[in-house]
Amino acid sequence: MNEQCFVTGGTGFIGQHLLARLTAKGHPVTLLLRKPAALPALQLLVEQHGGKGSLLTAVAGDLAKPQLGLDASGLRQMQQAKVVFHLGAAFAWGLSLEQGRAVTVNGAVRVAQLAAEHGSRLLMVSGFMLENQAHLQRIGIDLNDPLQTDWPALYRRVGGYEGSKLEAHFRVLDCMHQLGGELTVVHPATVCGDSRSGHILPAQPLAELISNLASGKLSAIPGSAAHWLPLVPVDFLAALMVAAAFDPQQVGRQILALDERTPNLAQMLEVLAAPLGVQAPRRFLPIGVLRWLLKIPGLPALLRTSPESLDFIQTTRFDTSATKALAARHQLAWPDLQQAMQATARFVAVS
Ligand SMILES: NC(=O)c1ccc[n+]([C@@H]2O[C@H](COP(=O)([O-])OP(=O)(O)OC[C@H]3O[C@@H](n4cnc5c(N)ncnc54)[C@H](OP(=O)(O)O)[C@@H]3O)[C@@H](O)[C@H]2O)c1
Repeated sequence: MNEQCFVTGGTGFIGQHLLARLTAKGHPVTLLLRKPAALPALQLLVEQHGGKGSLLTAVAGDLAKPQLGLDASGLRQMQQAKVVFHLGAAFAWGLSLEQGRAVTVNGAVRVAQLAAEHGSRLLMVSGFMLENQAHLQRIGIDLNDPLQTDWPALYRRVGGYEGSKLEAHFRVLDCMHQLGGELTVVHPATVCGDSRSGHILPAQPLAELISNLASGKLSAIPGSAAHWLPLVPVDFLAALMVAAAFDPQQVGRQILALDERTPNLAQMLEVLAAPLGVQAPRRFLPIGVLRWLLKIPGLPALLRTSPESLDFIQTTRFDTSATKALAARHQLAWPDLQQAMQATARFVAVS
């Protein structure tokens, strides 16, 4: 069955690869786009990623607007979707609480309300830090009653992007619980480029890290030998999302999309440095010191590093047995991560 789907955030990095996977499987997709005139260019990109651009249609909308800015015809198209994939978010460092809430939190709740009202399954993309309970507690999430969290304090601590992602997650869980809607959540690790082509967008955190490495701006390894930045290749993530979205066993589940074979940060930088023809740094710089240095005006811009990005570099390891079982049941092969990292580095180097 080629079920109709509705996707927010389709123009983004993960969105493009999700659209390629969905349309390659024959699913017609309606996209919520702020600029529907961007559809033909997106169709070409989706073809380049191995999908079928002709299966895409677009409706005008905006996550920050009431009813997602959809007119009656847009709402009717959304209503026909078997699965709503929600990826859209304001993804940037330095966002204010108001900016993060307007798009990422309120947008996610609006998408959830409409999906539940229409009887569509919601596949929402959150983030892997939600699976790190110790971190959540440390930054001030009330684990017994997350909605009672002091959100303004949390936003001040982790920044507008991560704050709004965390708040959106808990608000959507609550909303779907209240409305009885079907929800599956996918928590991606930091997303690596396509495992074959290395395709990645320049604003992605891993692409920024590679650019810094290539230009010699990364002279020390943030953290210690135990620190790592867990990764997942974008094509594998897209395949996992599509498998989970139509799998009845995944209703009510949260799936961690993370390759536990990701090496520690020091080794990762070695792997990325090789195709760039540069030396990876060897010295470690404790995260606390780096965070302090980044308070110096001008330094974040000079080093092209935001203090917010440091929260994703941790020592915690995760249990991915449920993800491995899901991948095995759907015969999804985990890509060779070293090859995916090197393809990504080569892609960034020539972009
Ligand atoms: N990339 C990662 O490493 C990573 C890791 C964990 C979780 N995630 C999550 O995965 C999702 C997708 O990430 P990504 O890396 O693909 O992000 P991205 O490349 O920055 O794409 C963001 C998408 O959101 C859309 N968007 C932003 N504001 C909007 C608005 N007001 N109304 C409608 N659409 C809007 C953008 O559309 P326009 O074209 O109109 O700007 C774009 O399609 C996000 O929720 C992100 O938090 C990403």
